[in-house]
This record gives sequence, C-alpha cells and structure tokens, in this order.
Amino acid sequence: MSVLNLITIDGPSGSGKGTVCHILAKKLQWHLLDSGALYRILAYAALQNKVSLTDAKALSELALSLDVSFVSNGNGVDTLLSGENIGDKLRTEVVGQAASEVASIQDVRTALLARQKAFLQAPGLIADGRDMGTVVFPDAAVKVFLDASAEERAERRFNQLQEKGFNVNIAQILSEIKERDFRDRNRAVAPLRPADDAIVIDSTTLTIDEVVSKVLALVELKLKITVE
Ligand code: DC
Repeated sequence: MSVLNLITIDGPSGSGKGTVCHILAKKLQWHLLDSGALYRILAYAALQNKVSLTDAKALSELALSLDVSFVSNGNGVDTLLSGENIGDKLRTEVVGQAASEVASIQDVRTALLARQKAFLQAPGLIADGRDMGTVVFPDAAVKVFLDASAEERAERRFNQLQEKGFNVNIAQILSEIKERDFRDRNRAVAPLRPADDAIVIDSTTLTIDEVVSKVLALVELKLKITVE
C-alpha cells in the first residue's frame, strides 16, 4: 500500500482531534489509530497490576505483552484488554494523568512503536496522537497539528463532563489541562510539537465541521483524491 494514504493529526488534549479523526476515518473509510488509547491502556494495566509508573523496565515489558484489540461495534469502537471491554475505564482523569506519566519514558514509547506502525494498512490510516507526524509516521504526506487555547479546551471538557452529569469545576479542569500540556510539551522524549512539515490549525474559534473541511481540503490537494 502507498505510504501516501496516511494522515497524521497531532495536538494537545481537547483540541478536537479525536472527533475530527473519527469523522475523517468514517468519511474516507480508512483505519483509525487512537495512539493515546494505547498509552491509557498501558497506564490502566499498570495501575491494575500495581506496576510502578516510573519502572521503565516493568512498564515496557507490560507494553509488549498487552493483549489489546479494538473492535468496531457499529456505533464506535470497543477497546478490549484480554477480552474485557475497558473503554469507559480509560477516560478517567486518574488514567489520563498516569498515561501522561508513562508516556514520558523512552523505553515505553519504543515498546509501543511496532504496535502503532502495524495500524498502517490498506486502504489508509488516520493516526491520532502527539508524535504521529514527528516520530511514528515521519513520511506521512498529510500532517496536521490541531491546537486550541487552554481556556477553550477547558471549556469544551467542562461542557462534556457537565452533559454527562458530573459536578465539575472549570478552574480545576483548566489547571489539570495546563499541567498535562506542560508535561507533554516539555518532556525529553517525543515532546508534543508540530512536525516541521505539519500544517497547524487553531480550532479555538472553529467548529468541528470547519476543521474537518480544512483537513479534507488539504487531503484533496496533497493526495489528489476527491472526498464526497
Ligand atoms: O490523547 P490522550 O489524552 O488519550 O493521551 C493520553 C496521554 O498519552 C497524553 O497525556 C499524552 C500521551 N500520548 C503520547 O505521549 N503520545 C501519543 N502519541 C499519544 C498520547
């Protein structure tokens, strides 16, 4: 398969990339890699198995041994760890912070590399993460870095959680977002940053549909394909 059928979308949490990637994968009928889910699954498994979040050797062994599968369920994707559907358990703040911690360890990132590359299959792949365009798929023809202000991302997260019935505090969400951003952008290994050849889209004042249209325009231009 041509390596050209590959779109990488990197950016901080809350930039809208997860939603944008799902819409693109559906429109193009391509595979989807949610690389953040892999870091979350590892963090979840480490917490369950009482593996220290700083033990590089134990964490990378765990990363290599995880029995993970993503199964389409018609509505979305079920995340199975050793056959158990753990999708809902991955989205908690505790798992998110733990994922950010384990993701700062080079051995862990190396252990997850082959698993991520294996997602590149015909007819194409949308890769969602922090280092898709810089480290995992540096040859991708279409690279997007989706950003938004921390305040806007906190408000989006606040609205999402309120809709789900959680009693939340926007100041606390904003401070957690800033803490995670700082760690992801300043870590020594694979820090969150746009690839040199990435197109940066700031979604602060854009709707999801506007972002999707911008990415599709880029795809049509660079990959010379027409998307309905
Ligand atoms: O996208 P997310 O919030 O599900 O990601 C969870 C954490 O995993 C995030 O804090 C950073 C890390 N991550 C990473 O370091 N590299 C990736 N390609 C994806 C996620």
